Amino acid sequence: MSDKQKKTIFSGVQPSGKLTLGNYLGAIRNFPILQEEYNCVYCVVDMHAITVRQDPPSLRRSTLEVLAQYIACGLDPEKSILFIQSHVPAHAELAWVLNCYTMFGEASRMTQFKDKSAKHTDNVNVGLFSYPVLMAADILLYQTDLVPVGVDQSQHIELTRDIANRFNGVYSDTFTIPEGYYPKAGEGAKVMSLSDPERKMSKSDENENGYILLMDQPEVIMRKFKRAVTDSEARIVMDPVGKPGVSNLLQIYALATGKTVAEAENEFAGKGYGEFKPAVGEAVVELLRPIRETTEDLLKNKDYLEKVYTEGAQKANYLARKTLDKVYRKVGFVAR
Ligand code: TRP
Repeated sequence: MSDKQKKTIFSGVQPSGKLTLGNYLGAIRNFPILQEEYNCVYCVVDMHAITVRQDPPSLRRSTLEVLAQYIACGLDPEKSILFIQSHVPAHAELAWVLNCYTMFGEASRMTQFKDKSAKHTDNVNVGLFSYPVLMAADILLYQTDLVPVGVDQSQHIELTRDIANRFNGVYSDTFTIPEGYYPKAGEGAKVMSLSDPERKMSKSDENENGYILLMDQPEVIMRKFKRAVTDSEARIVMDPVGKPGVSNLLQIYALATGKTVAEAENEFAGKGYGEFKPAVGEAVVELLRPIRETTEDLLKNKDYLEKVYTEGAQKANYLARKTLDKVYRKVGFVAR
């Protein structure tokens, strides 16, 4: 299929630098496959990040870390566009225009805004309020068809569609109307916390034994798996309701080794947790080893990373500019 016929996928990733095993098994693992079938655009959203206070040197480091980890997970800069949001001015420019097509009431209803403003009471800034409008600009600039995100972002995707439809309605077709692309149930996508298996694995967990980071060293991974919460019944079978901890570990083991859950159950039949938990740990160590090592190498190779994000920004800029020019013309700005 030529690039013209392919659909476009856009995704933004926060430069927190800390991707978890849950992010990997739930989404990132599929990115290399997606890039064969779609035009993929991946953006590290440093402009979104400053809606909450950041330490500048850490933000710079984390931005590059995320980029390096994506490449290490198999995203190919020759096939996909990888870039940093602040390098493509059209994001800020379109966001301004879209601010004028977003209603105060709509933006006030965003639950992420309500949550974040409750959490950062000393810094409820206007950027936090218009965060979803910048996100809409990110998506709409690339005439995006699909946006792979977690369900927590579905309200922002709906708002993006509303803004795009409103603009198209006033000025004739300008933007492709995007759709959210959510992980399907049953794809084994959801990885739970190791310390509280009723909750999703998340890096914002206070207990760091609950999550595995892609950059965790092998001994850290082993320690976290040895401490993983199970139950008092020494049986290694899939039963997400009765045995959430064991089921989560079985699932992780199956995903990490490429075996089915049934094969994993057979392998551990009659064995105890003392043997099971380190085996899962070792499988994850081996799964993550090449990703961590490649990321470390890439981070030492600043020239290469710079080449990737510079070329990415050039390609992104070309596409984004086309949409922005159309928008500027339609709203009545004098051509420059
Ligand atoms: N808001 C998204 C999140 O917190 C990140 C994001 C910014 C994004 N712009 C985007 C995701 C555009 C998808 C498309 O995860």
